[in-house]
Amino acid sequence: MGKKLVLAYSGGLDTSVAVRWLTDKGYDVIALTVDVGLDRDPAVAEERALAAGAIEYRCIDAKDDFIRFFAFPALAAGAMYQGRYPLATALARPLIAKLMVDVAREVDAKAVGHGCTGKGNDQVRFDVSTQALAPDLEIVAPVREWELKTRELEIEYAEKHDIPVPVTKASPYSVDENLWGRSIESGPLEDPWNEPPEDVYAWTKSVADAPDDPAYIEVSFEHGIPTALDGKEIAGVALVERLNELAGEHGIGRIDHMEDRLVGIKSREIYEAPAAVTLLAAHQAIERMTLSKTQLRTKAVIAREYAELIYDGLWFTAHHQDLASYVQSSQRHVNGTTRLRLHKGQATAVGAKSPSSLYATSLATYEKGDQYDQSAAKGFIHIWGLPVRVQAQKQLLAQSDEPLHIASGETQ
Ligand code: ARG
Repeated sequence: MGKKLVLAYSGGLDTSVAVRWLTDKGYDVIALTVDVGLDRDPAVAEERALAAGAIEYRCIDAKDDFIRFFAFPALAAGAMYQGRYPLATALARPLIAKLMVDVAREVDAKAVGHGCTGKGNDQVRFDVSTQALAPDLEIVAPVREWELKTRELEIEYAEKHDIPVPVTKASPYSVDENLWGRSIESGPLEDPWNEPPEDVYAWTKSVADAPDDPAYIEVSFEHGIPTALDGKEIAGVALVERLNELAGEHGIGRIDHMEDRLVGIKSREIYEAPAAVTLLAAHQAIERMTLSKTQLRTKAVIAREYAELIYDGLWFTAHHQDLASYVQSSQRHVNGTTRLRLHKGQATAVGAKSPSSLYATSLATYEKGDQYDQSAAKGFIHIWGLPVRVQAQKQLLAQSDEPLHIASGETQ
């Protein structure tokens, strides 16, 4: 009997070949598919894994956990890597690592494995998460080690060893998908001058093909978590599935990014994230209404940190616990409903209401019912401007003939 290894198994070519390669290295492979919004049939994956030599196949439905403990907390945090990528792939990795470790403990495996290359972020996320949760486990990443450097060589290897090769026609793209989004790279996308060909997209219509008429939806939040669609309570997974369809139909959530990878490489990546983009817009509208100016300012800093942390594979860290505490606390009054217009590639918040709204018509209005005391503004400005006047008199006016030069950066 070999040493047991739990392999994160997608059913694709890389991981199918990996099953055999690891078996040849003396491991007993338990192939584990974690369903975070599967684009493949687990029955087919099972057949393929066993045919490739796995001693056991498992599929865990983790969709609910993924949305509840990974995607929605990231939504509440407002996490968007480099302001553009809602982090679908990055968010799933720590969950997959956790489940690999759980299965490894259950079957008393001494190793875990994954099909990541040595050039990407995902290897880092898997390895660092595993190291945090189970420092004793060996981590094997066959693609980082083997000599099968091209798809052709992998196919040759598969044919030689009677491994059923995925029958799908060879796509030039490398795709990863889960409920929170779809990530696409390689092929013609590697030339950043190339406009992404239409066949890159699977979840979203082009703006040209999107309906001419807008759709309106209402998303309600409780403590920063979406809980209802159009006034009806809905579970997280169902909401995200529904919005991926609806917003995708209107061409929403296409993102073309020039991304900075953790390993230092710039990479051209396309994303489709209709639900994530729509929910982020909806959530931000409630936050603008219910958080103070200083809370919003600090929250923006936290959101950025949170996004970096997810991207960099640092999910299982004390830093994350600290940031998550801030986010959770910041969301205690983020309740309310956003009305969104879905139209021609844009999800636009066109209305918002909240029981904890800080917006007061009686203060903002220029019409009847104004309760704001304009005469008090004069005294406020007198005090507010005090340090400005003092400094201007003592320094700016005293040192320069032309104090207005400060506006052009000339202070001398
Ligand atoms: N660049 C994204 C990330 O690091 C996605 C990586 C996986 N992309 C892919 N097309 N296979 O999170």
